Amino acid sequence: MQGSRADRRGADGGPTGPAASRLAGPPALSPRDFARLSAFIEGRCGIRMPPSKRTLLESRLGRRVRELGLAGFGEYCEQVLGGAAGDEVVRMVDHVTTNKTDFFREPHHFELLVRDVLPALAAERGAGTRRPLRLWSAGCSTGEEPYTLAMVLLEAARQAAGLRFGILATDLSTRVLERARGAEYTEAQVRPVPLALRRRYLLRSVRDPQVVRVCQRVRELVALEQLNLLDPDYRLRDRMDVIFCRNVFIYFERSVQERVLLQFARVLAPGGFLFLGHAESIAGLEVPFDPVAPTVYRRREDG
Ligand SMILES: C[S@@+](CC[C@H](N)C(=O)[O-])C[C@H]1O[C@@H](n2cnc3c(N)ncnc32)[C@H](O)[C@@H]1O
Repeated sequence: MQGSRADRRGADGGPTGPAASRLAGPPALSPRDFARLSAFIEGRCGIRMPPSKRTLLESRLGRRVRELGLAGFGEYCEQVLGGAAGDEVVRMVDHVTTNKTDFFREPHHFELLVRDVLPALAAERGAGTRRPLRLWSAGCSTGEEPYTLAMVLLEAARQAAGLRFGILATDLSTRVLERARGAEYTEAQVRPVPLALRRRYLLRSVRDPQVVRVCQRVRELVALEQLNLLDPDYRLRDRMDVIFCRNVFIYFERSVQERVLLQFARVLAPGGFLFLGHAESIAGLEVPFDPVAPTVYRRREDG
């Protein structure tokens, strides 16, 4: 891929030569190339790409085709799907994933976590007391969800001294993980964070007063890693007590949802809790979880 980009760039780094002139307008995605790309994306990351997504894919990946100075989607498919460009597969996934997220998104989940889930896991499993409580934000996007969890649990620890916990936060997209590592947000983005927590856990950037950074104490509680939920083995060191996987399943086929839920059942300790997004449900799937509240499930002790 690098070679082809260099071949097509002028001294100023801009596209030049025949490829650039053939791409005077935005590249068009033919039905054939759409079928190839959508099959690849569904197979690789589980993200559904029905024909209605063709325009979306055309505009998102079209930018990338132009950046690379390629002649069109046909050439892009040859390079990415032909396996010649491993890095480009990661870039492509970055362009097709939808990363919308917020601090304190669906706030009732965090209330339920502190009010019901923490006491249950501490009493029944010693999680958070005899040993650290382990939480996983699966599909964490730019970090707002795991940092919200960390702030909420630090607040809970102020009431229940000795509460110990760690948060694993993973995503498929390397671009969002970079942003999560930076932990910098705008004023508008941190608005859902209650004022008292903003004062305790967020710092104004010295470089840019419009930018707010999550403080080191919170950042250190969150381990950020790349992980594809379609991987057959997540290779987690410990079993989890709580999984937040919200607003990720909406992009998956039912069969992929079931497959991922069965993996979750393997890595979640019996009696562990699973939080899904408001539009997601496990109804009708053969998985060992029981509903405990809308979009909140508990892993069965058996099965
Ligand atoms: C809409 S965001 C949800 C963020 C957060 N959980 C929330 O509810 O605000 C969905 C995230 O899922 C990630 N994702 C999509 N497919 C994935 C996969 N196969 N493995 C891991 N993450 C995936 C995307 O990269 C994206 O960041």
